[in-house]
Amino acid sequence: MIKGILFDLDGVLLSTDQFHFQAWKALADRLAIPFDRRQGDRCRGISRMESLDIVLENSTRTYTPEEKLQFAEEKNHAYRAFLQGLTPADVPEETVRVLTQLRIRGYRLALASGSKNAELILEKTGLCSLLDGVVDGRDITRSKPDPEVFCKAAQALGLSPRDCVGVDDASAGVQSIRAAGALAAAIGPAAQAGEGDWNLKSLSQLLERCPGMEAVLCR
Ligand code: BG6
Ligand code: MG
Repeated sequence: MIKGILFDLDGVLLSTDQFHFQAWKALADRLAIPFDRRQGDRCRGISRMESLDIVLENSTRTYTPEEKLQFAEEKNHAYRAFLQGLTPADVPEETVRVLTQLRIRGYRLALASGSKNAELILEKTGLCSLLDGVVDGRDITRSKPDPEVFCKAAQALGLSPRDCVGVDDASAGVQSIRAAGALAAAIGPAAQAGEGDWNLKSLSQLLERCPGMEAVLCR
């Protein structure tokens, strides 16, 4: 029985995925390396340094580990500049409505994000008030598709992953959810590719799949 819902952040609860793309694109442009949306989509869910390898894959030269660290730092600086401008008004009305309704229905909700910037986003948007647990990139040692982040998010709710649904827009995220033993609800690009157990067209569709606890107990 589903008791908890574990949400990825970027590209699921709000569109910070666009800021990731813009910040990587700015770095790629400065280095005169072609970088397109398809590559941007491949950066979803994976770590900052793994994303950098995708950004640099069309480069004609190789870079030292020190240069790579500096590039990752430059991207993160640009990304955080976007985040500084976030306000509660940037959270889609649909996100607030769905999270509020799921809690009223008796589900416990947690964040399961690989981002080390999640805390800043939660602070700026006030999203933390809608969550019962938070696990982010600073709490894990292995990034998605490893199951660590979803396992820890379930644990933060006092639940087994088997009693949870994970929601993610990335292939790496869907794999991570499955490896944790939870049900995988894909959204965005991962849903379009049909990768989830549920492939959601919008976050609202969670409300069709997750009825009130009384309804579940009466079945
Ligand atoms: C994920 C994004 O949420 O966080 C990835 O989908 C990103 O694209 C990863 O690489 C790490 O983010 P950050 O904010 O720690 O650089
Ligand atoms: Mg995401």
